[in-house]
Amino acid sequence: MSLHLRKVTANIGAHVSGVDLARPLDEETRSALREALNVHKALVFDDVHLDDEGQQAFVRHFGDVTTAHPTVAAVDGAPNVLPVDSEQGIANHWHTDVTFVLNPPQASTLRSITVPPYGGETLIASSAAAYRQLPEPLRALADDLWAEHTNDYDYAVPAEEIDEQQAAQRARFTSIKFRTVHPVVRVHPLTGERGLFIGGFAQRIVGLSVGESRRILDLLQSYVTRPENVLRHRWSENQLVLFDNRITQHYAVDNYDRQPRRLHRVTVAGDVPVGVEGKESYSIEGDAAHYTSVAA
Ligand SMILES: [Fe+2]
Repeated sequence: MSLHLRKVTANIGAHVSGVDLARPLDEETRSALREALNVHKALVFDDVHLDDEGQQAFVRHFGDVTTAHPTVAAVDGAPNVLPVDSEQGIANHWHTDVTFVLNPPQASTLRSITVPPYGGETLIASSAAAYRQLPEPLRALADDLWAEHTNDYDYAVPAEEIDEQQAAQRARFTSIKFRTVHPVVRVHPLTGERGLFIGGFAQRIVGLSVGESRRILDLLQSYVTRPENVLRHRWSENQLVLFDNRITQHYAVDNYDRQPRRLHRVTVAGDVPVGVEGKESYSIEGDAAHYTSVAA
């Protein structure tokens, strides 16, 4: 095995070389990649020649594959692959994938299919670095907070500004309504590392009003999105990015003049999050059993 890691930034990201993702990984390589993911949070692979089936086979090294999404349609003929396509909406908001369900995916992969000639970067932020940078009183506050996450969230673009197609996409997205309460500080099950587990689907802090919640979430979120905590990934052809969805947030930059941009996403089924006191997340509304198994 000649697996090689090259750090991209101090807080997040590494380029991986010396591993052929199109072939089954041996146990040594698999565990080296898991360790690299634990440390670097986001791994970038170049010269990846995979189809949808190959991407799923790679993902299965890390756990069960989820279906594409709880409510959004999969790629035709590939029920576990989500098309991330500029023609079907843009994700220029900070989020962690599918946190509105009880056990969000533990990891996500994105594979480049169509790369715009400029722009279209994916930003990935370390919420572990954000937590470490909180001043002690804010860390103590965050440790005690729980937040309600929902797919019926507050969009950056208001309803009266969107066209019919976008309205249909939103209706589909919320065709099953989910509400789940997660700890604001999640303890990573493999490393014990703490990270802020918030992002765009977190709408309210338990016990606070919407207005108070917004101010506290914004304050905590400002640490996540510090430039020092963010990997800015510029896509090339034949790349795959694997990121730890338990301890990162991401954002698709809308700076490519809506030229074609397409990635295929396959995610690894996750565990139920646990807070600093050992308490687990709980569901208020919506059953995601059709979407994901629960990782041990
Ligand atoms: Fe996403």
